[in-house]
Amino acid sequence: MTVNTAALTRGPTTGGISLAGLTKSFGDVHAVRGVDIEIAPGETVALLGPNGAGKSTTIDMMLGLLPPDSGSVTLFGRSARDAVAAGTVGAMLQSGGLIAFLTVRELITMMASLYPNPLPVAEVLAVTGITEIAGQRTDKLSGGQTQRVRAALALVTNPELLVLDEPTVAMDVEGRHQFWTFMRNVASSGKTVVFATHYLEEADSYADRIILMARGRVVADGPTTEIKATVGLKTIRATLPQADLPALRALPGVSLAESRGEAIVLTCSDSDQAIRALLSNYAQARDVEISGAGLEEAFLALTGDPAAHPGQTERDHTEHAHTGVDQ
Ligand SMILES: Nc1ncnc2c1ncn2[C@@H]1O[C@H](COP(=O)(O)OP(=O)(O)OP(=O)(O)O)[C@@H](O)[C@H]1O
Ligand SMILES: [Mg+2]
Repeated sequence: MTVNTAALTRGPTTGGISLAGLTKSFGDVHAVRGVDIEIAPGETVALLGPNGAGKSTTIDMMLGLLPPDSGSVTLFGRSARDAVAAGTVGAMLQSGGLIAFLTVRELITMMASLYPNPLPVAEVLAVTGITEIAGQRTDKLSGGQTQRVRAALALVTNPELLVLDEPTVAMDVEGRHQFWTFMRNVASSGKTVVFATHYLEEADSYADRIILMARGRVVADGPTTEIKATVGLKTIRATLPQADLPALRALPGVSLAESRGEAIVLTCSDSDQAIRALLSNYAQARDVEISGAGLEEAFLALTGDPAAHPGQTERDHTEHAHTGVDQ
């Protein structure tokens, strides 16, 4: 796993991307609470996390669109603003429309003309799958088509770093597949790609590395395979009417307890410990089953609300800034 200490990220960097000690609040909302991320050139990194985790806020600070309350951003040895001004960064943000009354081709050509080393417009139209709609007006597109045009706008500038905030949200399955196939080509040409997503499958399939965010912090950071292994949690199911969920959650080895009718489902960080504790405390438990948890359950256990995890308290920045997963 990537060592993610504040001490290592403070120094000047020339190579890749360095986010050091970033924080950002909006009034009472602590959107980002101390994020340290180092990304090497050529990496494809997924920022994974639930709604409100702070992904977009982090991305906006990375792009110099939002000033951090504290901390710093360095992109290829420059400040975010300088890197963006130099055309080093292409972004596809979560919100924002397209300039209306232009055709798709006109809009992309216009964007290309603003940058020093753009890619050929025809090539970009082809790889993003929008050649057929190039003559259509930008205000007459479907949601998925709009997303592709936005991706093309980011790509045509031929950036070193591509930042994509939930790029496939409005796309259908086919569109997603095409989009990621094309992004894989972009990444293999040596560009650095950072994308935010809610989808574990997307992060798993397309990123070299997953940075898991929750409640404004990084809760896990490492190679995709390691994150998957780390979150390879187990689930215990049992029939236990009128279960006391807070008490079940407090059992050793249990990270999440839910009820489904008369049954309970425990997501476990240590299922051996949990099953012993369950059976010794609840002799009436029946139909007990243990299975490997899906990634979704593991994800929920890792990023769920701290109030749902008596064993997992809010950690301050220095405590969190260590290797790997916070559990
Ligand atoms: N401009 C803003 N004003 C006030 N609060 C904001 C603003 N932008 C973000 N927030 C709050 O900051 C927190 C983090 O939001 P952010 O958009 O970074 O999350 P996210 O991880 O991108 O979520 P999503 O997956 O829904 O896109 C949320 O609680 C959000 O409501
Ligand atoms: Mg977002």
